[in-house]
Amino acid sequence: MKKYLVIGNPINHSLSPKLHNFWFKENNIDAVYEKKELHLEEVKNLILELKERRVSGINVTVPFKKDIIPFLDELSQEANSTQSVNTIYLHKDKAIGHNTDIEGFKIAIQNLKINLKDKIIFIMGAGGVVPSLIFALNEMKVLKIIVSNRTKQKAENLKNLFNNISVIDWGSIPDVDMIINATSLGLKKEDSINLDFSRFKNKFFYDVIYNPKQTNFLKIGKKFGNISENGKMMFIYQAQAAFKIWHEVQPKVNNQLIKLLEQ
Ligand code: ATR
Repeated sequence: MKKYLVIGNPINHSLSPKLHNFWFKENNIDAVYEKKELHLEEVKNLILELKERRVSGINVTVPFKKDIIPFLDELSQEANSTQSVNTIYLHKDKAIGHNTDIEGFKIAIQNLKINLKDKIIFIMGAGGVVPSLIFALNEMKVLKIIVSNRTKQKAENLKNLFNNISVIDWGSIPDVDMIINATSLGLKKEDSINLDFSRFKNKFFYDVIYNPKQTNFLKIGKKFGNISENGKMMFIYQAQAAFKIWHEVQPKVNNQLIKLLEQ
Protein backbone atom coordinates (compact mmCIF):
# COMPACT_ATOMS: atom_id res chain seq x y z
CA MET A 1 0.00 0.00 0.00
CA LYS A 2 1.36 3.40 -0.95
CA LYS A 3 2.11 5.78 1.86
CA TYR A 4 1.86 9.57 1.91
CA LEU A 5 2.88 11.90 4.71
CA VAL A 6 2.49 15.40 5.99
CA ILE A 7 5.47 16.51 8.04
CA GLY A 8 5.76 19.43 10.43
CA ASN A 9 6.42 20.28 14.03
CA PRO A 10 3.96 20.39 15.69
CA ILE A 11 1.76 18.35 13.36
CA ASN A 12 -1.09 17.17 15.53
CA HIS A 13 -3.44 19.90 14.29
CA SER A 14 -3.05 18.95 10.62
CA LEU A 15 -6.28 18.13 8.82
CA SER A 16 -4.51 16.95 5.65
CA PRO A 17 -4.89 13.22 6.51
CA LYS A 18 -8.67 13.66 6.74
CA LEU A 19 -8.86 15.14 3.26
CA HIS A 20 -6.48 12.78 1.49
CA ASN A 21 -7.82 9.61 3.13
CA PHE A 22 -11.37 10.66 2.20
CA TRP A 23 -10.29 11.14 -1.41
CA PHE A 24 -8.46 7.76 -1.45
CA LYS A 25 -11.71 6.04 -0.56
CA GLU A 26 -13.73 8.04 -3.03
CA ASN A 27 -11.31 7.32 -5.86
CA ASN A 28 -10.59 3.67 -4.93
CA ILE A 29 -6.92 4.34 -4.37
CA ASP A 30 -5.12 1.83 -2.19
CA ALA A 31 -3.04 4.19 -0.09
CA VAL A 32 -2.75 5.72 3.33
CA TYR A 33 -1.92 9.30 4.34
CA GLU A 34 -0.40 9.91 7.77
CA LYS A 35 1.03 12.79 9.76
CA LYS A 36 4.54 12.69 11.12
CA GLU A 37 6.15 15.05 13.59
CA LEU A 38 9.87 15.26 13.06
CA HIS A 39 13.02 17.33 13.45
CA LEU A 40 14.98 18.80 10.57
CA GLU A 41 17.78 16.22 11.08
CA GLU A 42 15.31 13.51 10.12
CA VAL A 43 14.35 15.08 6.80
CA LYS A 44 17.35 13.68 4.91
CA ASN A 45 16.32 10.12 5.76
CA LEU A 46 12.76 10.81 4.77
CA ILE A 47 13.83 11.97 1.30
CA LEU A 48 15.82 8.72 1.04
CA GLU A 49 12.63 6.83 1.84
CA LEU A 50 10.91 8.71 -0.97
CA LYS A 51 13.69 7.71 -3.38
CA GLU A 52 13.43 4.09 -2.28
CA ARG A 53 9.68 4.37 -2.86
CA ARG A 54 8.83 3.51 0.74
CA VAL A 55 7.02 6.85 0.81
CA SER A 56 5.24 8.06 -2.32
CA GLY A 57 4.64 11.73 -1.58
CA ILE A 58 5.15 14.29 1.16
CA ASN A 59 3.33 17.45 2.21
CA VAL A 60 5.36 19.91 4.21
CA THR A 61 4.05 22.38 6.75
CA VAL A 62 5.34 24.76 9.43
CA PRO A 63 8.26 25.10 10.12
CA PHE A 64 9.91 23.18 7.25
CA LYS A 65 8.60 24.77 4.05
CA LYS A 66 11.87 26.62 3.48
CA ASP A 67 14.28 24.50 5.47
CA ILE A 68 13.53 21.38 3.44
CA ILE A 69 14.83 22.92 0.20
CA PRO A 70 18.52 21.86 0.54
CA PHE A 71 17.43 18.21 0.79
CA LEU A 72 15.61 18.26 -2.57
CA ASP A 73 16.99 17.74 -6.09
CA GLU A 74 14.84 20.22 -7.96
CA LEU A 75 12.24 22.90 -7.33
CA SER A 76 9.32 23.93 -9.49
CA GLN A 77 9.32 27.55 -10.57
CA GLU A 78 6.67 28.34 -7.93
CA ALA A 79 8.64 26.70 -5.13
CA ASN A 80 11.83 28.41 -6.22
CA SER A 81 10.28 31.87 -6.51
CA THR A 82 8.69 31.62 -3.07
CA GLN A 83 11.44 29.54 -1.44
CA SER A 84 8.58 27.53 -0.04
CA VAL A 85 7.77 23.86 -0.60
CA ASN A 86 4.56 22.20 0.56
CA THR A 87 4.43 19.22 -1.82
CA ILE A 88 7.17 16.74 -2.72
CA TYR A 89 7.06 14.05 -5.39
CA LEU A 90 9.47 11.77 -7.19
CA HIS A 91 10.11 12.32 -10.89
CA LYS A 92 12.73 10.30 -12.75
CA ASP A 93 14.33 9.37 -9.40
CA LYS A 94 14.61 13.00 -8.39
CA ALA A 95 12.90 14.54 -5.35
CA ILE A 96 10.99 17.55 -6.66
CA GLY A 97 9.67 20.31 -4.40
CA HIS A 98 6.57 22.19 -5.46
CA ASN A 99 4.27 24.80 -3.92
CA THR A 100 0.50 24.25 -4.20
CA ASP A 101 -0.38 26.94 -1.61
CA ILE A 102 -0.25 29.41 -4.50
CA GLU A 103 -2.82 27.51 -6.54
CA GLY A 104 -4.92 26.95 -3.41
CA PHE A 105 -5.15 30.67 -2.70
CA LYS A 106 -5.81 31.56 -6.34
CA ILE A 107 -8.66 29.09 -6.77
CA ALA A 108 -10.19 30.11 -3.44
CA ILE A 109 -10.27 33.77 -4.54
CA GLN A 110 -11.43 33.01 -8.09
CA ASN A 111 -14.34 30.96 -6.74
CA LEU A 112 -15.53 33.99 -4.79
CA LYS A 113 -15.78 35.80 -8.13
CA ILE A 114 -13.61 38.57 -6.77
CA ASN A 115 -11.34 40.18 -9.33
CA LEU A 116 -8.16 41.52 -7.76
CA LYS A 117 -6.75 42.99 -10.94
CA ASP A 118 -5.44 46.52 -10.27
CA LYS A 119 -6.41 46.29 -6.59
CA ILE A 120 -4.28 47.40 -3.66
CA ILE A 121 -3.55 44.68 -1.12
CA PHE A 122 -2.34 44.91 2.46
CA ILE A 123 -0.76 41.83 4.04
CA MET A 124 -0.22 41.64 7.79
CA GLY A 125 2.51 39.16 8.67
CA ALA A 126 5.68 37.91 6.99
CA GLY A 127 5.73 34.23 7.98
CA GLY A 128 5.87 31.03 5.96
CA VAL A 129 2.71 31.48 3.89
CA VAL A 130 3.28 35.08 2.80
CA PRO A 131 5.57 34.45 -0.23
CA SER A 132 2.87 32.16 -1.65
CA LEU A 133 0.23 34.86 -1.20
CA ILE A 134 2.42 37.47 -2.88
CA PHE A 135 3.25 35.15 -5.80
CA ALA A 136 -0.46 34.41 -6.34
CA LEU A 137 -1.45 38.09 -6.01
CA ASN A 138 1.14 39.05 -8.61
CA GLU A 139 -0.28 36.41 -10.94
CA MET A 140 -3.70 37.95 -10.35
CA LYS A 141 -2.21 41.24 -11.56
CA VAL A 142 -2.87 43.32 -8.46
CA LEU A 143 -1.68 46.93 -8.58
CA LYS A 144 0.20 47.09 -5.30
CA ILE A 145 1.13 44.89 -2.35
CA ILE A 146 1.94 46.46 1.01
CA VAL A 147 3.34 44.26 3.77
CA SER A 148 3.56 45.00 7.47
CA ASN A 149 5.05 42.77 10.13
CA ARG A 150 5.71 43.17 13.85
CA THR A 151 9.35 42.32 13.16
CA LYS A 152 9.88 44.73 10.29
CA GLN A 153 13.10 43.13 9.06
CA LYS A 154 11.22 39.95 8.14
CA ALA A 155 8.95 41.96 5.89
CA GLU A 156 11.96 43.76 4.40
CA ASN A 157 13.54 40.38 3.66
CA LEU A 158 10.59 39.53 1.40
CA LYS A 159 11.94 42.15 -1.00
CA ASN A 160 14.71 39.68 -1.84
CA LEU A 161 12.03 37.47 -3.37
CA PHE A 162 9.63 40.13 -4.66
CA ASN A 163 10.97 43.50 -5.67
CA ASN A 164 7.52 45.04 -6.18
CA ILE A 165 6.29 45.05 -2.59
CA SER A 166 6.25 47.99 -0.16
CA VAL A 167 6.87 47.59 3.54
CA ILE A 168 5.34 49.78 6.23
CA ASP A 169 5.63 49.89 10.02
CA TRP A 170 3.51 47.57 12.11
CA GLY A 171 0.57 49.55 13.47
CA SER A 172 -0.28 51.68 10.46
CA ILE A 173 -2.98 50.62 8.03
CA PRO A 174 -3.03 52.04 4.51
CA ASP A 175 -6.14 52.61 2.37
CA VAL A 176 -6.51 49.40 0.42
CA ASP A 177 -9.04 47.14 -1.30
CA MET A 178 -8.12 43.95 0.52
CA ILE A 179 -6.60 43.25 3.94
CA ILE A 180 -5.06 39.84 4.59
CA ASN A 181 -4.28 38.52 8.05
CA ALA A 182 -1.32 36.20 7.63
CA THR A 183 -0.18 36.46 11.23
CA SER A 184 -0.87 33.74 13.74
CA LEU A 185 -3.03 36.20 15.71
CA GLY A 186 -6.46 34.64 15.71
CA LEU A 187 -5.47 31.01 16.18
CA LYS A 188 -6.63 31.42 19.76
CA LYS A 189 -10.26 32.50 19.97
CA GLU A 190 -9.46 35.40 22.27
CA ASP A 191 -6.65 36.74 20.03
CA SER A 192 -7.33 40.09 18.48
CA ILE A 193 -5.23 42.38 16.35
CA ASN A 194 -5.01 45.68 18.16
CA LEU A 195 -5.50 47.86 15.13
CA ASP A 196 -8.43 50.03 14.10
CA PHE A 197 -10.15 48.76 10.94
CA SER A 198 -13.36 50.74 11.48
CA ARG A 199 -12.87 53.01 8.45
CA PHE A 200 -13.11 50.10 5.98
CA LYS A 201 -16.41 49.33 4.27
CA ASN A 202 -17.20 47.27 1.16
CA LYS A 203 -13.64 45.97 1.13
CA PHE A 204 -12.34 42.41 1.37
CA PHE A 205 -11.06 40.96 4.66
CA TYR A 206 -9.22 37.65 4.23
CA ASP A 207 -7.76 35.50 7.00
CA VAL A 208 -5.43 32.62 6.26
CA ILE A 209 -6.62 31.04 9.52
CA TYR A 210 -9.64 28.71 9.23
CA ASN A 211 -9.77 27.29 12.73
CA PRO A 212 -11.45 29.08 14.46
CA LYS A 213 -13.80 29.66 11.53
CA GLN A 214 -14.16 33.33 12.23
CA THR A 215 -11.29 35.17 13.84
CA ASN A 216 -11.90 38.49 15.56
CA PHE A 217 -10.30 40.12 12.51
CA LEU A 218 -12.99 38.65 10.24
CA LYS A 219 -15.72 39.47 12.74
CA ILE A 220 -14.67 43.12 12.75
CA GLY A 221 -14.50 43.17 8.94
CA LYS A 222 -18.01 41.81 8.71
CA LYS A 223 -19.35 44.17 11.35
CA PHE A 224 -18.26 47.19 9.31
CA GLY A 225 -19.77 45.85 6.10
CA ASN A 226 -16.88 44.15 4.37
CA ILE A 227 -16.70 40.81 2.58
CA SER A 228 -14.89 38.27 4.74
CA GLU A 229 -13.38 34.90 3.97
CA ASN A 230 -11.25 32.47 5.95
CA GLY A 231 -8.43 30.21 4.73
CA LYS A 232 -10.43 27.00 4.58
CA MET A 233 -10.90 26.81 0.83
CA MET A 234 -7.26 27.72 0.26
CA PHE A 235 -6.32 24.79 2.46
CA ILE A 236 -8.65 22.44 0.59
CA TYR A 237 -7.47 23.54 -2.85
CA GLN A 238 -3.78 23.22 -1.96
CA ALA A 239 -4.55 19.63 -0.95
CA GLN A 240 -6.50 19.04 -4.16
CA ALA A 241 -3.56 20.28 -6.23
CA ALA A 242 -1.13 17.98 -4.37
CA PHE A 243 -3.49 15.03 -4.84
CA LYS A 244 -3.66 15.77 -8.57
CA ILE A 245 0.13 15.69 -8.83
CA TRP A 246 0.51 12.41 -6.95
CA HIS A 247 -2.44 10.46 -8.36
CA GLU A 248 -3.23 12.16 -11.66
CA VAL A 249 -6.83 12.41 -10.54
CA GLN A 250 -8.69 15.61 -9.71
CA PRO A 251 -10.52 14.80 -6.46
CA LYS A 252 -13.90 16.38 -5.83
CA VAL A 253 -14.43 19.31 -3.53
CA ASN A 254 -18.01 19.10 -2.32
CA ASN A 255 -20.00 19.89 0.80
CA GLN A 256 -19.31 16.50 2.35
CA LEU A 257 -15.58 17.16 2.09
CA ILE A 258 -15.87 20.71 3.37
CA LYS A 259 -17.88 19.42 6.36
CA LEU A 260 -15.13 16.91 7.14
CA LEU A 261 -12.96 19.78 8.29
CA GLU A 262 -15.54 20.86 10.82
CA GLN A 263 -15.48 17.65 12.81
P1 ATR B 1 7.09 31.90 11.06
O1 ATR B 1 7.26 33.38 11.32
O2 ATR B 1 7.97 31.03 11.90
O3 ATR B 1 7.08 31.54 9.60
P2 ATR B 1 4.28 31.88 11.02
O4 ATR B 1 3.28 31.22 11.92
O5 ATR B 1 4.25 31.56 9.59
O6 ATR B 1 5.67 31.54 11.64
O7 ATR B 1 4.21 33.45 11.19
C1 ATR B 1 3.71 34.04 12.28
C2 ATR B 1 3.41 35.50 11.92
O8 ATR B 1 2.55 36.05 12.90
C3 ATR B 1 4.64 36.36 11.89
O9 ATR B 1 4.48 37.34 10.88
C4 ATR B 1 4.63 36.99 13.28
O10 ATR B 1 5.30 38.20 13.41
P3 ATR B 1 6.85 38.24 13.83
O11 ATR B 1 7.60 37.96 12.56
O12 ATR B 1 7.08 39.60 14.36
O13 ATR B 1 7.04 37.16 14.85
C5 ATR B 1 3.15 37.22 13.46
N1 ATR B 1 2.77 37.34 14.87
C6 ATR B 1 2.74 36.37 15.81
N2 ATR B 1 2.32 36.87 16.99
C7 ATR B 1 2.08 38.19 16.79
C8 ATR B 1 1.65 39.27 17.62
N3 ATR B 1 1.36 39.08 18.92
N4 ATR B 1 1.53 40.50 17.08
C9 ATR B 1 1.81 40.71 15.78
N5 ATR B 1 2.24 39.75 14.93
C10 ATR B 1 2.37 38.51 15.43
